[in-house]
Amino acid sequence: MKIKEKASSMGYLKYELKNFEKLPVKIWEDSVEASRHVARSIALAIRQRQQDGEQTVLGLATGSTPIKVYEELVRMHKEEGLSFHNVVTFNLDEYYPMAKEAQQSYWRFMHEYLFDHVDIQPENIHIPDGTVPMEKIAEYCERYENQIELAGGIDIQLLGIGRTGHIGFNEPGAWETSPTRMVRLDHLTRHDASKDFQSEDDVPYRAITMGVGSIFKARTVYLMAWGQHKAQIIQQAIEGEITTSVPASFLQKHPNVKVVLDKSAAEELTKMKSPWLAGICNWTDDLICKAVVWLSQKTGKPILKLTDEDYNEHGLSDLIIEQANSYELNIQIFNRLQRTISGWPGGKPNADDSNRPERAKPAKKRMILFSPHPDDDVISMGGTFQRLVDQGHEVHVAYQTSGNIAVHDFDALRYAEFMREFKASQGTLDAQDAALYDKIIHFLNTKDSGTPDIPEVRSIKGLIRRGEARGGARFTGLQDSQIHFLDMPFYETGKTRKMPLGEADIQIIVDLMARIKPHQVFAAGDLADPHGTHRVCLDAIFEAFRHLDKETWMKDCWLWMYRGAWHEWAVHEIEMAVPMSPQQLRKKRQAIFMHQSQKDRAPFPGDDNREFWQRAEDRNRGTAHMYRSLGLAEYEAMEAFVRWKG
Ligand code: F6R
Repeated sequence: MKIKEKASSMGYLKYELKNFEKLPVKIWEDSVEASRHVARSIALAIRQRQQDGEQTVLGLATGSTPIKVYEELVRMHKEEGLSFHNVVTFNLDEYYPMAKEAQQSYWRFMHEYLFDHVDIQPENIHIPDGTVPMEKIAEYCERYENQIELAGGIDIQLLGIGRTGHIGFNEPGAWETSPTRMVRLDHLTRHDASKDFQSEDDVPYRAITMGVGSIFKARTVYLMAWGQHKAQIIQQAIEGEITTSVPASFLQKHPNVKVVLDKSAAEELTKMKSPWLAGICNWTDDLICKAVVWLSQKTGKPILKLTDEDYNEHGLSDLIIEQANSYELNIQIFNRLQRTISGWPGGKPNADDSNRPERAKPAKKRMILFSPHPDDDVISMGGTFQRLVDQGHEVHVAYQTSGNIAVHDFDALRYAEFMREFKASQGTLDAQDAALYDKIIHFLNTKDSGTPDIPEVRSIKGLIRRGEARGGARFTGLQDSQIHFLDMPFYETGKTRKMPLGEADIQIIVDLMARIKPHQVFAAGDLADPHGTHRVCLDAIFEAFRHLDKETWMKDCWLWMYRGAWHEWAVHEIEMAVPMSPQQLRKKRQAIFMHQSQKDRAPFPGDDNREFWQRAEDRNRGTAHMYRSLGLAEYEAMEAFVRWKG
């Protein structure tokens, strides 16, 4: 009998449920569903109030979190006649100083995502003004508060949460009754905001924000969070004590807050992380594995040394009752993890594959390794990539986007000057060329922070990354005919803010897959950042799978997901762990080094100061260490994959 069957016959839920959450939480499969739910609630309130001839006052947030809510509201306006004519809005905050038309202004954000697409009356829109002279700020903020009151107070307040625990721009230290005011931004907040600016230095130091007290007056509050990077702070805000060092925790005192999360943002909540402690246990094989791994880490013992007492003392006694004993359970989980380890990521020829992660046949497979940016292939699965090539498979690598915004201006300038000087040195620089290079060089020399690049500069930056990607793939042993640059159009805005995924993007993936008919597809499975490029690239692949569903070759096509540069799959999720020797790890590092424009300090490096090769090595060593600490074999490093089953 499988563990799951035994466990479920034991009658769980006999515990008393222990609720660690001090706010009502709803967890959705993903941010799209969650956002739709919030948008529907807003629409319902608007319609009900319209029927009663009343206006609805919305408190609105910016940032990546509410984007899909706004998109859904716009859709409802266009397709379902949802009207905003008697909706009044107050935005939470604005950078200071900040011109309305600036690329990064929240004024622009709100217009681009919502106001320009619905029938709201301009006089009903209120957004803190980042151009008010400093000496008038206090008076201005007081007026903002009065305007909210005059409008009857906020009916529904939307909130995101910053990694500092801020709501609005109420950073740690903000007091409970704080009103709308000028604040200084926390270092971490400025760092996170730098993705929208040219560099961290360009992020304003201040902002105008509604206070915790102003937010508190709203009748209903939706606190939303998506992505694993929010999981820690969400846990503190929801399960922790009320403290000024996590301003969102003040919401615990509000009578009507609804917390809306996707699965990744909920990861650290006790009921998700260690549900057995909360007494909610619908034991599946995965959950049992998670619990045993957790216990092994908690006790510092390898799995095979866990005893009945260990299970009993840590709230897991039910797992071993009737379930024979800890010894049998330990072995089952040990074997499960053991079977994930494979040096044959494309399948081991002529071997029994019944317990292996990949099929033995066909011995030589065709595969496409999708890389959202031009370096994710080698960063995230460089070791596996190398093995697949060495083991004789037909490996194709497809770079989904040009990655052009992540190239420094000084690198582009160097190439532009090089091209100009080279042509001049050959005596082939005609007037047209000279004008073109001069235009590019002049643009780069005089460019303001935040100005989108002109197409010629974007092209140079894209080509720089192409050359590097080709270098990495050739180094790993690919022929040029196996290297594909897809330049998906959604990415080509020249700004950090991208376009939504479109049919043209999906068709590019469909065409490549239909041409190669792969047995294996590898993709960056970053489910964490809903608006990040990785997630959009993954969605395009999912869509392509749906489009090609009827093709017979698709029955043999498996999709393996690696995680991007940020963090790794949890051990109980891993279905294939590909080990690397010290030499193989060094070789992977060399392939990453081909990406020179990303070395030292790439633009938009994310919230991590290590270079990409360091992150990759730390992560791969970390996985190997984890396996070792659970009592499995000791390798130098490991890359991990999860299979997507549709
Ligand atoms: C934005 C705001 C901020 C954001 C928070 C999360 O108006 O007030 O509190 O909600 O910084 O930002 P994202 O959603 O970009 O992760």
